[in-house]
Amino acid sequence: MSSTALLNSRTESLAPYPMEELARIKRELLATGQKVYNFGTGDPTIPVWEPITEAIKDGVSTLSQYPSIHGLPELREAHKSYLKRRFGIETGEDIMILPTRGSKEAVFHIALSLVGRAGGRKRIVYPDPGYPVYRSSAIFAGGTPHPVQLKEEESYLLKPWQLDKEVVKDTAALWLNYPHNPTGAIADKSYWQELINWAHDNDVIILSDDCYADIYDDSSEPPLNPLSISSDRVLSFMSLSKRSGLTGFRAGFLAGDSKILKPHSKARANFGLANPVHIQEGSIVAWNDDAHVKERRVIFGKRMEALVPFLMERGVLKEKPKATFYLWCKVPKKFNENDIEFCLQLAKKGIIASPSSWLSENVSGYFRLALVPSVDEIQEAKAILKDFLS
Ligand SMILES: Cc1ncc(COP(=O)(O)O)c(C=O)c1O
Repeated sequence: MSSTALLNSRTESLAPYPMEELARIKRELLATGQKVYNFGTGDPTIPVWEPITEAIKDGVSTLSQYPSIHGLPELREAHKSYLKRRFGIETGEDIMILPTRGSKEAVFHIALSLVGRAGGRKRIVYPDPGYPVYRSSAIFAGGTPHPVQLKEEESYLLKPWQLDKEVVKDTAALWLNYPHNPTGAIADKSYWQELINWAHDNDVIILSDDCYADIYDDSSEPPLNPLSISSDRVLSFMSLSKRSGLTGFRAGFLAGDSKILKPHSKARANFGLANPVHIQEGSIVAWNDDAHVKERRVIFGKRMEALVPFLMERGVLKEKPKATFYLWCKVPKKFNENDIEFCLQLAKKGIIASPSSWLSENVSGYFRLALVPSVDEIQEAKAILKDFLS
């Protein structure tokens, strides 16, 4: 009998998660003895700054008790201190902060509280290309996913004022992600101001996915956080995954409008999302230090230098991105925009990249390189790419 009787259509209709697919391809290549250059998943393998892992180890107690959804007082102080230091955000009564188990779960769960708000608004608007969980969370929450295709000629800025009036009236919330995965685009203050004015005029909640906020080119202005402009109807999703390389420990926080987050914290208590105390101890150290993050930026900067000019010379990359560790490249003409075919053929040579069709509902003809390999590995990969791209 078909399994469709056992599961609901939301789960049955899910496409394989792109990063799972990339991991499968990598495993298959390794099994054939092929050397693999993994530019696929955005999970760099830089060792975690030791004081963080030490604090995590020291935080493991022989007495195990349920942690609080609100986190340790010292963790809340570390979040506040970071927001003040990095973005000049003062956290008064208007802003609430909740620890998260990384951004992914927080992105997913917020939809459960927002779909149906304001008289039954069902739409969640989000950037395309973009993080796949914006869409899947809207679906699981019973909402309507509404992708907006970002355009290169508009610097990949999502402009909700271009949406139909009827769509806006049905929009519960809008996702923004600057610095943007996969294009590396950033947004300036005037854009954020315009966006926030629009959200206030139209009663739309701004969901700002800020997990790449600290991964930027040190020679340019650090990216902004919209909470530094207004906390009204604005939520910011922060993470230690990219900032401190803690993807495996699952740690982040959610900050913003306390009128939204106070009730949402009751929902989160039901979801069972409190952070284990030892992870909180490590997070305190991570949020209170900026030097280890700067060191990570230097590493990504060197990887950019090793690869960006080469890709630009070959005409697949337009410019060096100002932020993130991603390079959003155009598939060479001879592949007729077939990004999946391009990436599969490239994988056969040992280089794993993400095709745009796996990161987008509407955009084809691009591929994303995540700067995960070291500079030495990048040099080796360039020799392969040289043949492949010519
Ligand atoms: C845009 C974006 N949002 C959220 C996440 C999830 O990050 P986390 O590891 O904090 O769950 C990622 C991970 O790659 C991402 O690229």
